[in-house]
Amino acid sequence: MTALQTTDIVLEARGVSKTYTLNSGLLSGKRTIEAVKHFSLDLKKNEALGLIGESGCGKSTLSRLLLGLEPPTEGSVLLHGEAIGGMSRKGVARILQPVFQDPYSSLNPRETIGEAVERPLWVHGIKDAEVRRKKVAAVIEAVGLPKRTLSSYPNQLSGGQRQRVAIARALVLEPSILICDEPTSALDVSVQAQILNLLNDLRRTMGLSLILISHDLQVVQFLSDRVAVMYFGELVEVGRTEAVMQAPQHAYTQRLLASALDIDPDAGIPALSPPPGP
Ligand SMILES: Nc1ncnc2c1ncn2[C@@H]1O[C@H](COP(=O)(O)OP(=O)(O)OP(=O)(O)O)[C@@H](O)[C@H]1O
Ligand SMILES: [Mg+2]
Repeated sequence: MTALQTTDIVLEARGVSKTYTLNSGLLSGKRTIEAVKHFSLDLKKNEALGLIGESGCGKSTLSRLLLGLEPPTEGSVLLHGEAIGGMSRKGVARILQPVFQDPYSSLNPRETIGEAVERPLWVHGIKDAEVRRKKVAAVIEAVGLPKRTLSSYPNQLSGGQRQRVAIARALVLEPSILICDEPTSALDVSVQAQILNLLNDLRRTMGLSLILISHDLQVVQFLSDRVAVMYFGELVEVGRTEAVMQAPQHAYTQRLLASALDIDPDAGIPALSPPPGP
């Protein structure tokens, strides 16, 4: 690998796996779930990478591994070449931030939007109130919310506005990477487009790298330079968005595309059986 390629990579999963052990009852003992299996993927500077796969295939688990919120059972995650497991939570938060599906659950109902967006600055030791005020005002404007939103409470906002607040809060520390896990799936279709446009604009104006996780091919297609396809915890295909859309290589991607495009509903969609177990 050349030096240029190495420095271009901002986040990398190297052969990560995550296995959960569940107690399935007194008599039946323990059961294991391999949520993510030997997954390798890299995100480049200024790139938008879509991660797609059906419900339960391990997308959110992978995102928690990439965010350093959970350690992988195997493999490692590197943030700017450094093992994320050895970095402080604050150090990671300055570079990498999540945006989740349901902004309501992550906003305190008793806290104003201004307080919620300012909190990360407090936590990261920015003592100057004027600096905090300016940063909060700038980021609220960047996500397209009026200033008066700062004194509102979460229950006074629409779902789309709350998702803008969640994005503002993710951006207030000026990270360079956002991992968005189903950021629009709780929203109406018209609002979905607004949030996707916002993410696209922010990516360009702020030079962000993005991972966009969705089960919806169209959402991913809209924003992504590359698409990674996940199936039963494994990476089955990754490539330039147009290439994957035009000539999908894996049978699962072909099925996904066929169902999204609804090419021939009468023909049905070929059923795929899960890959053989270990
Ligand atoms: N903390 C956990 N403990 C046990 N099992 C888990 C845990 N988190 C996820 N799983 C299991 O791992 C598998 C993958 O779940 P995950 O939430 O990553 O899927 P997903 O692709 O994000 O699905 P969705 O599209 O529905 O959000 C599922 O079988 C799930 O039940
Ligand atoms: Mg999920």
